[in-house]
Amino acid sequence: MPQLSDAINRISPSPTLAMSARVGELKRAGVDVIGLSAGEPDFNTPDFIKEAAIAAIRNNDTRYTDVDGTPALKAAIADKFARDNGLTYALNQISVNAGGKHTLFNAFLATVQAGDEVIIPAPYWVSYPDIVEFAGGTPVILPAGANQLYKILPEQLEAAITPRTKWVLLNSPSNPTGAAYSADELRALGEVLIRHPHVMVLTDDMYEHIWYADTPFATIAQVCPELYERTLTVNGASKAYAMTGWRIGFAGGPAWLIKAMAKLQSQSTSNPSSISQAAVVAALTGDQSFLVERNAAFRRRRDLVVAGLNAAPGLHCPTPEGAFYVYPDCTGCIGKRTPEDKVIETDSDLIDYFLDHARVAAVPGIAFGVSPAFRVSYATSETILTEACKRIRDACEKLS
Ligand SMILES: Cc1ncc(COP(=O)(O)O)c(C=O)c1O
Repeated sequence: MPQLSDAINRISPSPTLAMSARVGELKRAGVDVIGLSAGEPDFNTPDFIKEAAIAAIRNNDTRYTDVDGTPALKAAIADKFARDNGLTYALNQISVNAGGKHTLFNAFLATVQAGDEVIIPAPYWVSYPDIVEFAGGTPVILPAGANQLYKILPEQLEAAITPRTKWVLLNSPSNPTGAAYSADELRALGEVLIRHPHVMVLTDDMYEHIWYADTPFATIAQVCPELYERTLTVNGASKAYAMTGWRIGFAGGPAWLIKAMAKLQSQSTSNPSSISQAAVVAALTGDQSFLVERNAAFRRRRDLVVAGLNAAPGLHCPTPEGAFYVYPDCTGCIGKRTPEDKVIETDSDLIDYFLDHARVAAVPGIAFGVSPAFRVSYATSETILTEACKRIRDACEKLS
C-alpha cells in the first residue's frame, strides 16, 4: 500500500513532458516523427553566456551562494526590470530560483493554503493548477476561447473574484496560446483589481522577449503602479536566452513575500547553481541584439505555421502576438471519421490520430483547460514546420 501524501495525490505528471517522452520513444524505435510538443527554443545558448559559465568554473565560483541569489545577479535583475519594464526593485525585493517553475512553486507554497482561491485564465500553462492544488488552494479557472483571442475580459475577472481570492495569475505572452495583452488590455484588468485590495497578482512574463505586436511588451505593475505593492513579476532566462537546462528563474515583488520565498528555499533546494547564476549575469548585462534576430526567426515560423494550419480543413488558428506556440481550435474536426472509421470525439483523439497517421506530435487542449484545440510549438526549423503542416493538412483532409 503506497504511503503517499494527499498533496502528491492531488497533482498529475506534466502532460507536455509526457508527450515529449512518447516522441522520444518513437524516435528511438526509428519512427520518422516530428515533435511539436516541447516548450523550448531550438536555438543554442549564446556563446558569450557559455563563456561566462566556463570562467565561473575556472574562478572557483563553485560554492554555495546566498540562498536566493548572488548580489551580482540580483543587481543585474534589478537593472533588467528597470531597463525593460520601468520597474524599480531593491535587492531585497528580488528572488532567484532554480527555473521559473520553482519561482512559482515558492510563491504559491509560501502564501496559499486550504480555502484560498487562485484565479487562472485558461488556456493555462499546465503547471499552474497543479502547483496551486499542491499548496492546498483551489484553482478557479476562467476560460477564454478563440472567439476572444484567448484573453480574459475585465467583466469575467470581476465576476470571478470572491473574498477568498488570494491571487490572480496572468501570463502574457501565453503558453499555450501565444496570446499577448496590450498595455490597454492590462490596464483594464488592473482597474478591476484595484477595486479588490485583498487580491495579489502574479504575472508570468517568461516569454517577454518573444514578441511580435506593434506596441511594446507591457507588464501589469508597470501599467498599473497602484498594484505594484501586491504584484509578483516573474521572469527567467529559460526562453529568451535559450537556457532551459541552466535552471534560473527570478521574480521582483514585495520584500515580505521575497523573504518568505527565501525561507522556503533555504529549507528545500538552497541556492540555484552558482555557475548558472554567473551565466545569467552575462546574459542580462551582455549585448541583447541576438534577441532581435531570434525574434525575427520566430516571427517567420509563426507566419508559416498559422498559414499552414489554417489551410487544413477543420482547423481555425488565430495569429498570436508572442511566445512560440499556436493554439488552433479544432471544433471542425470533431465528429468526423478517420480512414479506419473511428470517430474523432475529443482533441485527444485528434492528437492520437495525428501521431499515428501523420507522425506529428502536438499536445491536446484538454491539458490546458480549453477544448477542442491543441498546442503546437513552432520552436523548430522552417523546413520541419513546412513538412509538419503538410502532414497535418493531409491528415485533416482524410477525415470525413
Ligand atoms: C508560461 C511559463 N512559465 C514558466 C515556465 C517555467 O520555465 P522554467 O523552465 O524556467 O522553469 C514555463 C516553461 O515552460 C512556461 O511556459
